Amino acid sequence: MQIETLLTHLARPSGEHADSVNPPLVRTSTVIFRDLSAFKKSYSNPIFEELRYGRSGTTTTFELQKAMAAIENTESCIATGCGLSAIVAVLSSHAGPGRHLLISEGVYGPTKTFCEKELTSLGTNITYFGTNDNVKDLIKPETSLIYIEVPSSITMEMFDIEMVCREANKRQIPVACDSTWGTPIFFKPHSLGIDISIHAATKYINGHSDTMLGLITGSYEKIDPVRNWCDRYGSHVAPDSCWLALRGLRTLAVRMRQHQKSTLAVATWLSERPEIKNIFYPPLSTGNNYSLWRKQFSGCAGPFTVELHSCEELEFENFINGLTLFGLGTSWGGFESLVMPAIPHHLRAEKIMPNERRLVRFHIGLEDSEELCSDIAVALKNLNRTNN
Ligand SMILES: Cc1ncc(COP(=O)(O)O)c(C=O)c1O
Repeated sequence: MQIETLLTHLARPSGEHADSVNPPLVRTSTVIFRDLSAFKKSYSNPIFEELRYGRSGTTTTFELQKAMAAIENTESCIATGCGLSAIVAVLSSHAGPGRHLLISEGVYGPTKTFCEKELTSLGTNITYFGTNDNVKDLIKPETSLIYIEVPSSITMEMFDIEMVCREANKRQIPVACDSTWGTPIFFKPHSLGIDISIHAATKYINGHSDTMLGLITGSYEKIDPVRNWCDRYGSHVAPDSCWLALRGLRTLAVRMRQHQKSTLAVATWLSERPEIKNIFYPPLSTGNNYSLWRKQFSGCAGPFTVELHSCEELEFENFINGLTLFGLGTSWGGFESLVMPAIPHHLRAEKIMPNERRLVRFHIGLEDSEELCSDIAVALKNLNRTNN
């Protein structure tokens, strides 16, 4: 079945009992069992897939997890409280004293902070690799996980996933990937060889900027350590968030096509403006970055970054404040357009662009793209004094 059909028909069985199209929102802490054999049976399936106790989820959670596993073309899914908690669960369950993690450079800022502030202090060694590094040379006997984010946050570099997975596979090292940008519509992590895929479902999967959620997918075998970690550390997500994400999932394919169309229009227009020094967006990039995007993705999402020509702080402030159709906020993936100054904490920008505070990350929402361009054009007038 095509993904559009799946998104409509998956995750509805529990709605039948309520004679409704949608699965009911089931909230509970206590699960009441019919009898002792039902109680015992609840312990026979993997945790987070069977009614047991509220912490391990309700039918609403299970509907979302099953749907997500199906559209990611894998066996299993675990929902967590937010994207970062999903990342923390995957990294932590493969970390520990004497273990080594290989992590792609430019990962989402809080992922890097977690590695630096928590994992290394607990004795995990971490090596970051860039697009030009040969992963094979960085793998150590004690490497327990390779973790990639594609494209990298803010600077949007691509990594050769198939090559990384091939090298990891030879040594039986699992590969995890933050797949949030590509969404299940434009990116198929498991068919490229990724073992554990992570989505900050807070973004496009929910799509309406009204809840936080993380989703981790993979085979039972590959996500077993993550499942145990989530169980032992008391990971839980409210069924309300799962219900909202299920509603978001129904329209994911149509929303993504619209985000793609508008973002291409706005990013292309911006790339031709004299105020813009550089644009970081895989479809508008060149060389390896472009060819890897073409090869590994079937489309492109709404966030991209621009580098402005140098300008005074006040001009920059007036530019940001001059945008009326873009909310000033750090997220993305909702229906609304957003803008944020990309600060070095997020990006290792010190290496790439010395002129901090001149990187701007946009997210193109579902507004009319011409109106978005006109809005940016007005705000750009605040930069006109120094951009040439
Ligand atoms: C690529 C990426 N991964 C993960 C996250 C974290 O998701 P959450 O905000 O749900 O914790 C974000 C949030 O911006 C992100 O951009």
